[in-house]
Amino acid sequence: MRGMSWETLRPQWGLVLGSGLGGFVERITVTDVVPYAGIAGLPQSRVEGHAGEFVFGMLGGVPVVAARGRVHLYEGRTAAEVTAHVRWMAERGIRRLVLTNAAGTSNPDFEPGGWMMLSDQLNLTGTTPLLGGPNFHDMSEVYSKALRTHFATTAKELDIRLHEGVYAGQLGPQYETPAEVRMLRTLGADAVGMSTVLEAIAARALGLEVAGFSCLTNWAAGFHPGSLAHSEVIETGQRAAGTLAALLARAIPAVR
Ligand code: HPA
Repeated sequence: MRGMSWETLRPQWGLVLGSGLGGFVERITVTDVVPYAGIAGLPQSRVEGHAGEFVFGMLGGVPVVAARGRVHLYEGRTAAEVTAHVRWMAERGIRRLVLTNAAGTSNPDFEPGGWMMLSDQLNLTGTTPLLGGPNFHDMSEVYSKALRTHFATTAKELDIRLHEGVYAGQLGPQYETPAEVRMLRTLGADAVGMSTVLEAIAARALGLEVAGFSCLTNWAAGFHPGSLAHSEVIETGQRAAGTLAALLARAIPAVR
């Protein structure tokens, strides 16, 4: 099927694969790969582990498109730029979007190496992709309750431990201080990262159903002595990626 033009495949689901999680595409029967570089208006990341391309294909009989790599606000991009891939996938026809990311855990019960499904989010970036218009979109259910129930049930069937909690999206690129992590915990954050929240807002404004998953790659600052390294985040992500891949590969084709 490879080589079939992406213009003829109408994906139902979009996925955004975060740091170290790009290996998920091995689950897809790939029909086409489109580098961001070939698409007008699609910014490209320069961060290691964030290669930019859309991978089209079939997942258990369902047409999907995976955005492998994303750009971040901390690269000096605007909120509109960091959500361009979401709008592009929506224009291709997706109705549902799965966002994945690497995050630090700020919940003492959620150990690094595990996965957290997002129940809600704190947008702490100070910006939004809806800037510039009277876009008073409802955000009372950013992450679809129906999808959450479905993914939680599937995780149980597969004996996968899946936490559920609130993701705080901050600007970065520096990791947090211990004081900031204590503040985030007080605000109700279970995990903290530097992506996802703006994509989720853009997707909801487009009427997409959204699910989100954080790979808990490390304890957020201050939980344990020692410092944080980007390489640790990538390595833990790569080790844990197979678990989420199994969950998505089972759960996505089962949604009708
Ligand atoms: N903080 C912010 N972003 C992150 C972290 C973290 O601890 N780990 C992975 N992405």
